[in-house]
Formats: sequence, C-alpha cells, structure tokens
Amino acid sequence: MSKSITEVFWGDLNPEQLLDKYGSPLYIYNEQIIRERCRELKNLLPYPWFTVNYSAKANSNLELLRLIKEEGINADAVSSGEIYLLLKAGFEPDQILFVANNISAEEMKFAIDQGVTISLDSLSQLVTFGRINPGGRVAVRFNPGVGAGHHEKVMTGGRNTKFGVDAELVEEVKKIAAEYALWIVGVNQHIGSLFLDGEPYLTGVRALLEIAAEFPELEFIDFGGGFGIPYHWSAGEERLDLPALAAELEQILPAWRRNYGREVKMKIEPGRYLVAESGVLLGRVLNVKQNHTKKFIGTDLGFNVLMRPVLYDSYHEITAFRQGIPLSGGPQEIVTVVGNICESGDILGRDRELPPLKVGDVLAVWDAGAYGYAMASNYNLRLRPAEVLITADGREKLIRKRDTFEDLLRNFLTL
Ligand code: LLP
Repeated sequence: MSKSITEVFWGDLNPEQLLDKYGSPLYIYNEQIIRERCRELKNLLPYPWFTVNYSAKANSNLELLRLIKEEGINADAVSSGEIYLLLKAGFEPDQILFVANNISAEEMKFAIDQGVTISLDSLSQLVTFGRINPGGRVAVRFNPGVGAGHHEKVMTGGRNTKFGVDAELVEEVKKIAAEYALWIVGVNQHIGSLFLDGEPYLTGVRALLEIAAEFPELEFIDFGGGFGIPYHWSAGEERLDLPALAAELEQILPAWRRNYGREVKMKIEPGRYLVAESGVLLGRVLNVKQNHTKKFIGTDLGFNVLMRPVLYDSYHEITAFRQGIPLSGGPQEIVTVVGNICESGDILGRDRELPPLKVGDVLAVWDAGAYGYAMASNYNLRLRPAEVLITADGREKLIRKRDTFEDLLRNFLTL
C-alpha cells in the first residue's frame, strides 16, 4: 500500500498517543490538506465571477468551517441548523445559499430573516415562499435529468429522484414568479455525489445553462458539487482530473457569460472534495476471533462513528499501527473488520488484507473527513468521539470534545 499522504499526515504526532490522550475512537483532521483542497478548487477557473461554495453537510465542525472561510470559500446550507452554524463561523448571510428540499414556511422565514438566499426545488415550495415573501429574491433548483454518484442513494439528478424542478416546467416557474413578483436570482442543480469522471457533470452544466438562458435576471448559476476523491487508492484508483475538467469548463462558461449580457456569478458546490482526505478515523482493536470460516477484527469503530460502509457499501482504506509504528511490509491475511454495534451488518471493511493484528493495535480509517462525524450518532448510546486538528504548524488542537454521559441525558425532562 502506498500513498505519500499516509506518511505526511501525522507530522511528528503519534496516533497511539493521540488515542491515549483523547480517547478511542477519534477523528483527526489535517489543516494543511483542507487548505490545499480549498485552493485547488478555488483556482479551478481564474475569474472573479467564479466562486466555490462549501457544502457544509459534509463536515460542519465550527473550527473547520472557519478555516474554510479563511480560504475565501462561501457556503451552502441545507437546513436552518447549518445556516445557524455557518453564521456562527463568521460567514456573511450573502455568502450562504440555502439549498432547500421540502422545508416548512417557518424554515423559509428563518432564512429570510437572516438575509440568506433560498433555493427551492418544487413549484409548491415556490408558492409557499411567494405567499410569505411576495416580491422576494429566490433561486430555483432544477433537475436536468442527468445523475451521477457512487451509489443510487446519492444520485440527486435524474428521472427517479425527489430533487429539483423538472426542466420542462420552466414556464410554470415563471408563472409563479410573476404571480408573487418574485425575482429569480439564481438557478442551481446538484446531480449527485462523487464523480471521478467529469463527463456527467459537464452534461449537467450544459443542461443547466440551457435552463439559465430562460431567466434574464440571474445573479448566479450554481452547478452543484459531487467532486469525487479516490477512496480505493490501494487499488490504484485515480484522482479526478481537475485540469481536464477546468479546460472543459473554460470552453463553455466564459463564452456563455458573454452572450448572457449580464454580470452573472458561476459557482460550484463541493462538500466531500474539500474535507474527505483531511480526515482519519482512529480506533482500537479490542478482539481478534475466528468465527467458523471467517476471521474477525473487533474494534470500537461501529457504524455509529462512520456510517458510510454500512449505508452505501463504501470503501475506506484501513491501515494499522502497533505502539505508534505503522505495521507494513510483513505478511498479510484476509480479515473482516467490524465494530461494536449490536447488528451483524456493523461491518467497516469486508475481507481486507491486513497484517496479523493483536488486541491493542490501532487502526486508521482513511478519507473519513467527509460524511464521517457529520453522520455519526449515539446509536446504542455510544458516545460520539472527539475531533482533533493537526494544525498547519504541526500542533494538535482539540476542536470538539468527546460526548459525555451527561450529553445522553441532555434532552430529558425528568431524570
Ligand atoms: N449540494 C447539494 C445540494 C447536495 O445535496 C450535496 C450533497 C452537495 C452539494 C455536496 O456534494 P459532495 O460534493 O459532497 O459530493 N452521505 C453521502 C453523501 C451525500 C451527499 C448529499 N448531498 C456519502 O457519505 O457519500
């Protein structure tokens, strides 16, 4: 297994000592990697009208949000909770786009009161908005009929998903806008999460631009996120070819803008790409057992901590340490790595080649910075882990405490 990042990730810090200090399991993030990814996407196209919105759902740790903001990135929220946190992190209301799906009038009012632009993705939501905020500014999310993604559950564009307004309904959107004097300030789409081949994204871009041309007063067009990272690097999975994607966008976007005849901003909306590779989940081997034909490595890394493998059959690389030293180079055996949740589906890595492990060894689960902690829960009343940042100058910084038993009691009225 080779990946330069595995060596540089820790700097002088030692995973074993981090676990001893902050408890196991533990999320670790590397500041330098987040900053590099932000710069990479921000420089995708060298124009002031091109901006990047970080999709906060991927990881909404307040400290990481601040860091991403420092890199000159704006944000996208999908709930009033995310708006609340983004404002706390210092984003200005006009740097946030609320990409909403099936929200109540109260949630719309919250965003309107905060001065945050909302994008709505159905005719009936647009009517609700028009009723409570006639004359208001609003964006519309379209579904261009193309989808992409690593799993059916995260393909958001296409004919079989709940998202977006059907591109055929542009005239209906205009009618509702006219009835409530709404200003359609933006159109957006998000065709799905995790593409490593830019082609479907570009098809979506072209389709959205056709729709955008129908709206003469746009302030922005947002092409959505979905930029993938190669989770399966031990098998040689390649990175998304960003320069190639940039070259294609360069062919399409500037010319379109010139024809549009109005200053319009163009945005992308990545979540995973900015944070996934910055995060590693650490845990401990608590049990090694042979059950009939299978060898199981029992750990404290249940699906309450990282849900992706169970929910989407996602693959995350796993490496091992013994007393702080990487275990590599020796013999390997096929094992199944499981967590401590009382469900047989609690499998982190099926049939993996790992060195022979012992109780007390430490496992590092890579590329866990996106949709890791964000989807963690207290299922089985397990405590959610702490989060630690390795700062750009190599120090460790606790950026979220581990849950405590008191947290499990917090919302009960009688104790
Ligand atoms: N914009 C919208 C409207 C979205 O719904 C999403 C993700 C994004 C942007 C960012 O997508 P990204 O660049 O991160 O692919 N939990 C799943 C991913 C769910 C993505 C949902 N929407 C996973 O762990 O793979």
